[in-house]
Amino acid sequence: MRRPMVAGNWKMYGTRTSVAELIGGLNQQALPAGVDVAVFPVSVHLQQVLDGLAENNIAVGSQNCAFQSEQGALTGEVSPVQLADLGCQFVLVGHSERRSVFGESDRDVCNKFAAVQASGLIPVLCVGETLEQRNAGETLSVVSAQLDAVVGELGVGVFAKAVIAYEPVWAIGTGLTATPQQAQEVHAEIRAQIASKDSVLAESVRILYGGSVKAANAADLFGMPDIDGGLVGGASLNADEFGAICRAAGS
Ligand code: 13P
Repeated sequence: MRRPMVAGNWKMYGTRTSVAELIGGLNQQALPAGVDVAVFPVSVHLQQVLDGLAENNIAVGSQNCAFQSEQGALTGEVSPVQLADLGCQFVLVGHSERRSVFGESDRDVCNKFAAVQASGLIPVLCVGETLEQRNAGETLSVVSAQLDAVVGELGVGVFAKAVIAYEPVWAIGTGLTATPQQAQEVHAEIRAQIASKDSVLAESVRILYGGSVKAANAADLFGMPDIDGGLVGGASLNADEFGAICRAAGS
């Protein structure tokens, strides 16, 4: 059985004051014991969040990192080794906003994925198609190519210590959620792609759905056989809403 996971991507939101309130709200949530919960604050808030959630069972991750694990002369970057030193456990790689706004290529994503693992952290690899690609019938080929950029370079075995998040770009921050059936179709295909190389690994790898997940739609999405939890953006900035999503993953 795969252990469900719910991750909150806080994106570039929050001040120390609002983050303190969010931490307070999260510490009051009754979180299900059978679900891994993680939050991904802005990097300048990582220490505050690590300290604030230290008594809680919520892991902390970074939204981004440098493409190399070692420290170095890379002004403005944060190495995954430094994130590990801080106490982070996860790093998002290949989020659609990194791909589209910052021009990260499949190769960049693959390099970051490898750097994250080399530092002992767990990458959460984000994949997903745009609306144009979906309308052109290219969803499965686009997602498959994004996954293959990592599998082809690093081998399928790297997914023993990684999480995959399917986030259709058209569903991110739009209020449009993929239907459970639409999401399940892609999740099943991702799992099949991994199974074609390693069927045992395919059964254990967690595939999260992201894109306008809310408390109101979480249970239906998480009820699908290949959806192992969620990567939540906007709704993760509200502790009660996020707590409810976590409980939906545990039921
Ligand atoms: P929303 O939940 O706000 O649509 O964002 C999803 C996302 O991008 C999480 O990484």
